[in-house]
Amino acid sequence: MKQQTFAFTRSENLKQKPEASTLEFGKVFTDHMFTMDYSAETGWHDPQIVPYAPLELDPAAMCFHYGQTVFEGLKAYVTEKGKVLLFRPDKNFERLNRSNDRLCIPRLDEDLALEALRQLISVEKEWIPTAEGTSLYIRPFIISTEPFLGVAASVSYKFIIILSPVGAYYKEGINPVSIAVENDYVRAVKGGTGDAKTGGNYAASLKAQEVAAASGFSQVLWLDGLEKKYVEEVGSMNVFFKIDGEIVTPQLNGSILQGVTRDSVLHLLNHWGYPVTERRIAIAEVVQAQKEGRLEEVFGTGTAAIISPVGKLSYGGETYEINNGVTGEVAKRIYDTITGIQKGELEDTFGWTVEVK
Ligand code: COI
Repeated sequence: MKQQTFAFTRSENLKQKPEASTLEFGKVFTDHMFTMDYSAETGWHDPQIVPYAPLELDPAAMCFHYGQTVFEGLKAYVTEKGKVLLFRPDKNFERLNRSNDRLCIPRLDEDLALEALRQLISVEKEWIPTAEGTSLYIRPFIISTEPFLGVAASVSYKFIIILSPVGAYYKEGINPVSIAVENDYVRAVKGGTGDAKTGGNYAASLKAQEVAAASGFSQVLWLDGLEKKYVEEVGSMNVFFKIDGEIVTPQLNGSILQGVTRDSVLHLLNHWGYPVTERRIAIAEVVQAQKEGRLEEVFGTGTAAIISPVGKLSYGGETYEINNGVTGEVAKRIYDTITGIQKGELEDTFGWTVEVK
């Protein structure tokens, strides 16, 4: 691609950067953002880096009414030697376009989106925190902007990238969380939008999350929307089980999000020689394995938390303690390896990191 330098308006009011020790997830934003507009006549146009600021949108803008939006999440790190690294950003822009297809949003040029991200990160380098467990979370997203109350695909859109220095997603960090298997609500069904990264999936998850939290659980384990028998995801993450030495994750079926971390975990496990299977897995099988002492580990995988081990699982009125409530060996090994590669401390065998100059 011909290298393009985007228009840049520097902020005149630079913010104070937060103390790394105070960082939570997604509450603080940097000084600048990338924006680009779409209209049916001109296509995607007017790419620029501008001061981070509220948007002005018509109250009838379609994103407010019918949820025609998509988003992504990825992270930037700075290595001990001061190199800035992104982790598999191409995968996120690929997935953004798959989500676009599902939500009838026009596709983006993935190379242009990556170049936009590089230039934005380059401007905001100083915002990347370096303390253990911190990173710069990147949130690319697209909203429909046409002022129209008819249910149809919008004719105009805005693509935006914002950046947020973050600490751990879950207060537990890499320590195990407690999970309730969800029997009433479902997150997604095959044929719906479960495999697209769109806001509605997350809105649909809130009720179950609230109910679980009221009973003292951090997250829910989602079952399939049809039979409520098969495991799909955990919270907003993909899920893995270690049963009798074999590592199993639900196979992608149209209602499960194709996680970038999920894919990285599968690569690592195969590389290390663990038996790994992507298949349908029934909750009854998981519970049976636990009762027979064969369920060795359960963990979620996602960009925000990377790995989140499950220490307690509640199902059918019983609460089971997984792996004595401690982080399992495999979960820890994956967490250390992925974060090590992301921070440039371990060899990037798979060519996953992309340097930003
Ligand atoms: C992730 O695990 O990265 C997610 O998708 C959570 C995000 C919506 C904050």
